[in-house]
Amino acid sequence: MTSRIVITGTDTGIGKTVFSAALTDALSGCYWKPVQAGLDGETDSQAVRRLGRIEARHILPEAYRLATPASPHLSARLDGVTILPDSLSSPPLVDAPLVIEGAGGLLVPLTERTVFADVFQRWRIPVVLCARTELGTINHTLLSLEALRVRSIPIVGVAFIGDERADTESIIGKLGHVRVLGRLPRLDTLNPDTLRHAFREHFEIDQIREALA
Ligand SMILES: Nc1ncnc2c1ncn2[C@@H]1O[C@H](COP(=O)(O)OP(=O)(O)OP(=O)(O)O)[C@@H](O)[C@H]1O
Ligand SMILES: [Mg+2]
Repeated sequence: MTSRIVITGTDTGIGKTVFSAALTDALSGCYWKPVQAGLDGETDSQAVRRLGRIEARHILPEAYRLATPASPHLSARLDGVTILPDSLSSPPLVDAPLVIEGAGGLLVPLTERTVFADVFQRWRIPVVLCARTELGTINHTLLSLEALRVRSIPIVGVAFIGDERADTESIIGKLGHVRVLGRLPRLDTLNPDTLRHAFREHFEIDQIREALA
């Protein structure tokens, strides 16, 4: 039986991939990005491989690789591709912990009928919600937690990314009735060594490992 975890976020561009790289490294796991929208420059899979120093065989191929950096439903339409949510109904089976990164946030559309959270709901795989620490994050994080709970998606906890805002982290923990797993600081120099060090300093990997399903 594989152990798996989903990394989602309150928004796009908040650091899910960087967090996933650190987590995949810490778990000696595999990484899977089911839907990659945007192929110019480094893809998320390539960034995880580089930042987590993950072996190539531990980066699983994306189910959909779409050219345009847009919401997957639009990116797919522009590419002339149809995303079939059923094709994502069971994540790949591997013999190491599997870290799965969604695209953008929970209610990002895959098609005109399906959002990412619908896929997560079918999986029932525990989710880490990545959240910024800056202004606006309390609302986004609490809304995302509601969206997870309404679908009975298991929540491991919130992982913050950014500069320390102790009150923000604590009010989200209280009002969201959620465990705060830690905070990955914004690193001036982001490379595999600084990332591994920061992750080890700010997160307890055993706490996350225990939640894998
Ligand atoms: N802890 C950090 N320290 C320094 N830079 C970071 C950190 N986290 C993220 N970044 C930078 O911020 C940008 C966005 O991060 P990332 O790609 O991880 O976001 P994302 O949430 O995965 O986005 P997407 O929704 O596109 O998948 C990247 O340039 C990344 O290198
Ligand atoms: Mg990403």
